[in-house]
Amino acid sequence: MNLMTRFDKKIPYNELPLLPPKADIETKQILRKAISAGRSLAQLNGTLLNLPNPTLFLDTIYLQEAKASSEVENIITTNDELYKSLVADRKIENTATKEVLSYKEALWLGLEELKTKPFITTNLCIKIVQCIKQNSASIRNTPGTTLSNPQGEIIYTPPSGESIIREKLANLEKFINENTTIDPLIKMAILHYQFEAIHPFSDGNGRTGRILLILYLKISGLLNTPAIYLSEYIFKNKNKYYKCLRDVTEKNEWEDYIIYMMDMIEETSNKGLKRLRKITLAMEETANEIKKKLPRVYSKDLIEILFRLPYTKRQYMVDENIGNLKTVGNYLMALEENGFLKSEKVGKEKLYLNQKLIEILENTD
Ligand SMILES: Nc1ncnc2c1ncn2[C@@H]1O[C@H](COP(=O)(O)OP(=O)(O)O)[C@@H](O)[C@H]1O
Ligand SMILES: [Mg+2]
Repeated sequence: MNLMTRFDKKIPYNELPLLPPKADIETKQILRKAISAGRSLAQLNGTLLNLPNPTLFLDTIYLQEAKASSEVENIITTNDELYKSLVADRKIENTATKEVLSYKEALWLGLEELKTKPFITTNLCIKIVQCIKQNSASIRNTPGTTLSNPQGEIIYTPPSGESIIREKLANLEKFINENTTIDPLIKMAILHYQFEAIHPFSDGNGRTGRILLILYLKISGLLNTPAIYLSEYIFKNKNKYYKCLRDVTEKNEWEDYIIYMMDMIEETSNKGLKRLRKITLAMEETANEIKKKLPRVYSKDLIEILFRLPYTKRQYMVDENIGNLKTVGNYLMALEENGFLKSEKVGKEKLYLNQKLIEILENTD
C-alpha cells in the first residue's frame, strides 16, 4: 500500500485507513516504553488507592488538565482567575475561563457516563464536545474543515461527509471496545491519533480527544481514580505532538508517535505522584500546626476543605457541617490571623486562599 500517493493535505482524507494500523505497533522500543510507562502509571494508581480520600483532589487536578488542554488550543487563563471563578458566586465574564470550566465539567460528565456505560462511543464524544463548547454541535455535516499551521498553511484536511465520518468512528469504537490483544497503553495512543485524524467536529476535537485519554485509562482499569494531568506534557511538547500526528498520516510512522504518548503517561504519572506527595505532606504539616495553634478550630474535615481547592469560603464549610456561618466565619478569621489563609474580596464575597496549595500547583518542574 502506498500511502504517499493517497494522501494530499488539501483534499479530505476519506482514505484514512481503518484500525488496527497496518504497521508494526509492537516494536521492541514501543514494548520497552510500554513497560516503563505502565510501571509509573501503576505507581500513581497505587498511591491514589492508598489515599484516605482519593477523590479529594480531583476537582483541582481536572482544572489543571482543563487549563493545559485548553492552552494547547490557545485558550489561555491563569490559575488564580480559574480557581477564583470556580469558587466565587459572581458571573464569569472571561470567555477563556468559561471554556476551561466547561472543559472540566465535560470531563466529569464523561466519567459519570462511564458508570452506567463503560464504553467510549460516538454519542459519548458528542456529549463531551457539546459540554465543552456549550452548544449543540454534532458530527460535521458541511465540508470545509481544515487544519492549518501557525503560518496559515493547510497541513491536513480530515475526512468529509457525515456518513464517512460516522463509519470511521464506528470502526474506532469497535477497536477501542473489542480489540483486546493490544497493550492498553499502545491502544490508547492509537485511538487518540485516529480520533484526531477523523476530526469529527468542526471544533473541540483536540480537547475531546484528550478527555478520551483519561476516560480510556479509567475503563481499561489502568487508573481507578483517573487523577492525572496529561495535557501538561502535550502543552510543553506541543510541536512534537503535531509532528508525530502528521508523520503517522504522511509516513505511516507510528513508532515515534506511540512512544511520545507513552512518554506523556510516564512523565505525567511521575510528576503527578511527586505533586501528590507534596500536597499530602503540606496537608499533614498544616493539620499539625492548626492542632497546636488553634485546637478548637481543627478538624479532619476542615483540613480537607482547605486542600480540596486553593480557594475556600464560608459556605463550603457550612456545607460540610463544620459549623454555622458565624462559627465558620470566626474559624476562617482565626486561620487568616495565624497565617494559614489569605482573604480576598471578590464581588460581595470573601474568598480564602491556601497559598501553600497554589504554590505546589503552580510549580511545574
Ligand atoms: N496533523 C494533524 N492530524 C490530525 N490531528 C491533528 C493534526 N494536528 C493537530 N491535530 C489535532 O487537532 C487538534 C485541534 O483541533 P480542534 O478541533 O481545533 O480542537 P480544539 O477546539 O480542542 O482546539 C489538536 O489539538 C490536535 O489534537
Ligand atoms: Mg479549536
